[in-house]
Amino acid sequence: MKKVLVWDLPTRLFHWLLVVAVGGAWLSGETGGNWLVWHARLGFLIVGLIVFRLVWGFAGSTYARFATFVRGPASIKAYLAGQWQGLGHNPLGALSVLALLALVALQLGSGLVAFNDDTGFTGPFYDLVGKVIGDTATRLHHKIIDVLLILVGLHVAAIAFYTRFKKDNLVIPMITGRKEVRQGESARGGGLVALIVALLIAAAAAYGASGVWIEKPPAPPAAETPSW
Ligand code: HEM
Ligand code: HEM
Repeated sequence: MKKVLVWDLPTRLFHWLLVVAVGGAWLSGETGGNWLVWHARLGFLIVGLIVFRLVWGFAGSTYARFATFVRGPASIKAYLAGQWQGLGHNPLGALSVLALLALVALQLGSGLVAFNDDTGFTGPFYDLVGKVIGDTATRLHHKIIDVLLILVGLHVAAIAFYTRFKKDNLVIPMITGRKEVRQGESARGGGLVALIVALLIAAAAAYGASGVWIEKPPAPPAAETPSW
């Protein structure tokens, strides 16, 4: 047996920050009211995280790359038949990873154009898309969260199943990065330059999503105060 690096530090930080930020966005969204301001801030952070992960899926180290873990149906069949051997996400787990990323992205997209009746709080692009699209997106935002919560539940259940019944603890490698294996090589690649490029693209995406660059309409002229 030997210890190899499976998850590089950026992938691990991405995962645990995503857990905290999505948890916070869920709680603040359900609470509503003034918490929607923090809800949106967490949303912009999550935009940055997801975009970072997409770039890291090409520029990151071996097991973080989509090319390593996104496989065709043949691999999924082989995995189900117990014939898959490898490190990182297994071919079936990879599908749930993609589904989680896609659902979080949909939640973000709909949130950015959502509207709250109680406070008048809107996502930064609500005015750009108009009321019809905004209201449909708001309804979707309410629905997608339920699907996301179910998928997260399945995700955690699958990991608990692996630990309990397959005696394969997946959580420790997601914390320490390392795993004890008989066969397999440590992850390679995903150096400092790749990290800086991915962080810059992610920061630009979070900034873009925040909508602070959208020109605000000029304030209406102040009503003239009568002289008497
Ligand atoms: C909001 C909740 C969560 C979301 C959105 C989420 C999302 C994800 C995503 C996208 C990945 C793929 C990581 C990557 O390749 O970058 C992943 C993997 C993983 N997650 Fe989560 N996760 C959540 C909660 C949790 C929790 C609570 C645990 C701890 C029990 C956990 C443990 C893991 C582990 C161990 C992996 C690696 C699985 C493997 O080895 O294939 N996740 N998660
Ligand atoms: C993954 C990230 C997000 C999650 C998990 C999330 C979750 C939620 C939840 C649970 C609610 C309450 C829904 C309900 O009352 O049934 C909500 C409402 C809302 N969210 Fe998000 N949200 C996310 C991202 C965003 C973003 C990026 C924005 C915009 C900047 C946003 C804007 C809103 C608004 C305006 C509401 C109020 C909608 C209404 O009152 O009908 N959300 N969100």
